[in-house]
Amino acid sequence: MDKIIFATANEGKMREIREIFKDAPYSVVSMKEAGITADIVEDGTTFEENALIKARAVAGVSGAVAMADDSGLEVDFLDKAPGVYSARFLGEDTSYEIKNQYILDKLKDVPDEGRTARFVCAIAVAFPDGRTAVRTAAIEGRIAYEPAGENGFGYDPIFYVTEYGRTTAELTMEQKNRISHRAKALAAIKDWLFSLEGKGDCR
Ligand code: IMP
Repeated sequence: MDKIIFATANEGKMREIREIFKDAPYSVVSMKEAGITADIVEDGTTFEENALIKARAVAGVSGAVAMADDSGLEVDFLDKAPGVYSARFLGEDTSYEIKNQYILDKLKDVPDEGRTARFVCAIAVAFPDGRTAVRTAAIEGRIAYEPAGENGFGYDPIFYVTEYGRTTAELTMEQKNRISHRAKALAAIKDWLFSLEGKGDCR
């Protein structure tokens, strides 16, 4: 194996992934860099299913090893919504200012202990021969009482990490990448890929 195609068009994610895989004996390239386009319907009901759907689709069209992620925010008070629908929550084109305010309003009178939430990320790898693997990781936190911070994206301004005493939008990219759901899931899948190589099984 000389390369893995990562099924994303998001350059921010690619930067994070390249950093984590910088010591790998193969390169991780974006779909754009690989010249691949695929119209993928993410109709799974779990993060794992959606990550596998994307990885399988890209392995299928490219004939190369493919990796994909799926992530989102689970708010316990909202029965783990928005979950796999995080990007589509209240409509794909609705701003995160509105999505975040909606969640804050729903939790208006909820005390600290009821505000638990987590970011979850599943990363899947698919080989052209049909083998797959998926690893999932989370970062635990609480929904803040008001938005704070300018960094990050999506739900970061309302996701409060107790150990840092701030939201993930108030962390630097380096700080967030050390503790994030995505970083942890990527590290786990990298371990799995490296263990295959040790067995000479990584084609
Ligand atoms: P996807 O995995 O790129 O489809 O992202 C799903 C959605 O989950 C994003 O659009 C965000 O709304 C949310 N999300 C996932 N990870 C994060 C994060 O690290 N910070 C803020 N929002 C996130």
